[in-house]
Amino acid sequence: MPRWACSIKEAPKVSVVFQNVRLIDPSTNRDEEADVVITNGLIGDILRPMGYRPSSEKAIPVLSCNGSWFVPGLVDMHVHLREPGEEYKETIASGTRAAVAGGFVAVACMPNTKPPNDSYTVTRFIVDKAAREGASIVYPVGAITKGLLGEELTEMGSLVEAGVVAFSDDGRPVMNAQVMRRAMEYSLIFSVPIISHCEDLQLSAGGVANEGMISLKLGLRGLPSIAEEVMVARDIMIAKWTGARLHIAHVSTKYSVELIRRAKREGLPITAETAPHYFTLTEEALQGYDAVYKVNPPLRTLEDVEAVVEGLSDGTIDAIATDHAPHSVLEKDVEFDNAAFGMIGLETALPLSLELVRKGILSPLRAIALLSTNPARILGISLGSIEIGKPAFATLIDPNHEWVVNPDEFFSISRNCPFKGWSLRGRVQMTIVDGSLVFMDTDGICAPLGNIYAPRS
Ligand code: DOR
Repeated sequence: MPRWACSIKEAPKVSVVFQNVRLIDPSTNRDEEADVVITNGLIGDILRPMGYRPSSEKAIPVLSCNGSWFVPGLVDMHVHLREPGEEYKETIASGTRAAVAGGFVAVACMPNTKPPNDSYTVTRFIVDKAAREGASIVYPVGAITKGLLGEELTEMGSLVEAGVVAFSDDGRPVMNAQVMRRAMEYSLIFSVPIISHCEDLQLSAGGVANEGMISLKLGLRGLPSIAEEVMVARDIMIAKWTGARLHIAHVSTKYSVELIRRAKREGLPITAETAPHYFTLTEEALQGYDAVYKVNPPLRTLEDVEAVVEGLSDGTIDAIATDHAPHSVLEKDVEFDNAAFGMIGLETALPLSLELVRKGILSPLRAIALLSTNPARILGISLGSIEIGKPAFATLIDPNHEWVVNPDEFFSISRNCPFKGWSLRGRVQMTIVDGSLVFMDTDGICAPLGNIYAPRS
């Protein structure tokens, strides 16, 4: 099998010299050629290229990496793993395998499961299941309100105790401003961010596509950009009032970017993410009524896409997150109006982001900051860097490897990928989580390790 992924439990600890890599570590602003030595899962040494001299008593395999990128393991701060409750779409096991195949060593999973993650018990279920079956680390995000209904706050303290790293009602907004204000006030006690799904439900009611000429022409009910922007503005104001740490999820419009830019200029502790589909696709994709392109917030105009790209390059947007939203054919192979919102993204996010590097919009350092160092910082987790003496959380990437997207080959259970058939550049060769080799592509430069490393089960 050319590519395999396994759980952290089954994964072998790594002892390998990565010879001739391009080490890109935004946490230390480092972008240089190096040899990286990993011994028993720990970063043993970082040497100048070809600087490794084997000592005869403890020889470890030397992998010639040809300038592949060695980066801090990627962190996806916004995914839907669907477990508990919708395991036919994704499970913690399948979703985290998709994550490591996409280069992610950790994911933060949103609470809109069935039942929602609004209690100590559900959070513990996710944490325990991930520890037993996960290929990546899983950080649960707790619900802001009970049942995601927007009315009554969850027991935030007990959720934090169970292991949540942030709060969100993602999939739905918190429409009641007083409830959002209280949530932000409580979040300060626990030093965790509030992740806001910005959507005014009255303005967006019934909408399925970006409101504009295209939705008009196609006869689809509109989701106007102001439905997002009005809530971005509101939540920035509540964050200013409370002093809370607010993170805006899936930014998709030009004016949302502008509002966040102004808030940052004011010195407010606001952060924001966008997803690859918002900087890659426009509403034009909807012309064939294919529900694979139905997502919330919706694909927007070229002007919005350009503004999102500008936000990624000038620092307004801090993170690239996938909003990986698996759905089965039952929800997607239906009329556009009736289809579920969402697209999968874990296994295509990296090459789509590297496209912005190739266009000269992002430096490699900035791209890795957006995909690793920044989301780790926002979630307050100790990932996103390569440090001598620490367990390795790292991704080895061939930035030039060209491949054609075939969702049938994905580790994800779902197939709702809008990039099917696209030719992308950039491929993950190896993913190391906590010093263990959880993913390897044995077809490329890693082939010599094929016989040495295999999952334990
Ligand atoms: O398109 C979306 N799908 N947007 C969301 O906010 C939720 C997500 C889902 O859970 O399917």
